[in-house]
Amino acid sequence: MALRALTKVDNMLLSLDQALRAVVPHSNPSTRPLPVRDTSLPELTITESRHVAGLMRINHTGEVCAQGLYHGQAFTAKDEQVKAAMHHSALEEVDHLVWCETRLEELGSHPSVFTPLWYGLSFGLGAVAGAVSNEFSLGFVAETEAQVSEHLQDHIKQLPPQDLRTRDILAQMDVEELHHREMALDNGGHALPKPIKHGMRWMANRMKDVAYHL
Ligand SMILES: [Fe+2]
Ligand SMILES: [Fe+2]
Repeated sequence: MALRALTKVDNMLLSLDQALRAVVPHSNPSTRPLPVRDTSLPELTITESRHVAGLMRINHTGEVCAQGLYHGQAFTAKDEQVKAAMHHSALEEVDHLVWCETRLEELGSHPSVFTPLWYGLSFGLGAVAGAVSNEFSLGFVAETEAQVSEHLQDHIKQLPPQDLRTRDILAQMDVEELHHREMALDNGGHALPKPIKHGMRWMANRMKDVAYHL
């Protein structure tokens, strides 16, 4: 049977499905297991556990934002080749989302209560970036991934030494975020002007302040 082209309604439903999967826990099967060497849960004090949960809530929020950014960008991007190139990165982001969700649950905690808001804001930013140009949109992805890598490395330093499980997850995510950055640059992403980079950093820091607690 010949496949028909997707209609506007099909695309709207696909976008809705993607959005729900980004914000509703347990709605995504991960294609890869947790990237951890030790399968046992580390012993943490209550204070340590709360701190790691706060960090993982930030990282989970970062992954929700990555979903919003990639989906928003794909919604308005004009170039099919760019969309296809970014598809691989977007799939890896689904794994990251599930890994963060799983670790939060192991810690007896939960994702940010503002998850739908983070997704909506990021989708809007991605859609605007995608509508400007491929170079800008891919530059925006590259800068986002670079800033995500910075905070992952900062979080790794803050982990209790015995929490090798969280360390392994964040280290694997960091390797892949830097690869996503390279992919975006290789596909034509341009460096963003400094005021935009500063604005993105300011917004990410506000998001981190809120997501650590809520
Ligand atoms: Fe990620
Ligand atoms: Fe990424």
